[in-house]
Amino acid sequence: MSTKAEAATKKGYDVEEIRAQFPILKELVHGKPLVYFDNAATSQKPRRVIKAESAYYATINANVHRGVHALSTKATEAQEAARETIRKHINAKRAHEIIFTSGTTASINLAATSLGQLLLKKGDEVVISGMEHHSNIVPWQLACERHGATLKVIPITDSGEWDLRQVPFSDKTRILAISHVSNTLGTINPVKKLIAQAKKKGIVTVVDGAQAVPHLKIDVQDLGCDLYAFSGHKAYGPTGTGVLYGREDLLNQMPPWQGGGEMIDVVTFEKTTYAKLPFKFEAGTPHIAGIIGLGEAFRWMQDYDLSAMAAYEHTLLEHATKELLTIEGLRIIGTAKEKVGVISLVIDGVHHYDLGTLLDQQGIAVRTGHHCTQPLMEHFGVSGTTRASFACFNTIAEVDAMVAGVKKGVKMLR
Ligand code: ALA
Repeated sequence: MSTKAEAATKKGYDVEEIRAQFPILKELVHGKPLVYFDNAATSQKPRRVIKAESAYYATINANVHRGVHALSTKATEAQEAARETIRKHINAKRAHEIIFTSGTTASINLAATSLGQLLLKKGDEVVISGMEHHSNIVPWQLACERHGATLKVIPITDSGEWDLRQVPFSDKTRILAISHVSNTLGTINPVKKLIAQAKKKGIVTVVDGAQAVPHLKIDVQDLGCDLYAFSGHKAYGPTGTGVLYGREDLLNQMPPWQGGGEMIDVVTFEKTTYAKLPFKFEAGTPHIAGIIGLGEAFRWMQDYDLSAMAAYEHTLLEHATKELLTIEGLRIIGTAKEKVGVISLVIDGVHHYDLGTLLDQQGIAVRTGHHCTQPLMEHFGVSGTTRASFACFNTIAEVDAMVAGVKKGVKMLR
């Protein structure tokens, strides 16, 4: 940790010190300073992460767990150090409860395929919520189709929260799969509470933590979930990396979902036995460089006070909400009490795509469209929104630039 970073951590939040670590923030876009507000899609990466990934290729590139040679040993050690960093970050009991995947989507597909085979039979039910990302809907639909089960949905309220009076648990519910934080609305869901209810009924719980891990302190033991999925690239790490945390005894019961090298114990043409955790679920050569970068991203986050980061991001959310609501005809979709720094907005007479394009011309990156949550868009009766999503390196001045950009856009487009 640099002396400057040390000082920032001790004294409080120094956003300029943080910004200086993100090389991309010096880029110009259409000749304007980049304002990056698309962190829910993928966050930017600190220099340390970029360096760690390239240092692997430059100095220790070799396959893991396969060779007796020095480079393979070093690569293996670096990868396994990342696993331990992540274990500590989310307070899992054991490092082998951390499975590396290519991202949240792969983690949930693993969960749905394997749990489906283990638990689902004709007539069973899987419960999700009305604000899920497509990657926490479609894998469960596929599992339900395969095993003759039915998908049930927790309805959501107009503020974008779960309606906890209408949770469709029944004697047939086997799996609850829910997001910790909504990618479109920013709602922080009361996952711990719902997991406790599910547990009493013997329901296996899966949490999509893609949007939570970059912003909240995660403690999987405290949450009490069985499985917890997230991506590296939304949490300052490389793309193509992700994690599925699972409780050891459940992972031991779950069948593997992909076959290949590394996941086996003994292979014969008649029968194959499988490797121990976590390798049973890690067929093939992993994204070693990415995993090493992912470990570095989490070590980078651990150098800071995560609650100070969250509090800072909240000030951006509050300021942006207040200023944007002064614009006539602007509506924020997602007004839950507990939110991370995500604002989805619609404006009467202005198409989200046009607004996003105009903001881009001013160097401001936002996401437009349905954000992979079409059922949620249907609930709110909109085809899409313009979404700004904040990270620890954004500033109030950038929020003001976006608000000015939206005002300009409204004048031009209405
Ligand atoms: N899930 C990502 C988003 O919300 C891609 O933008």
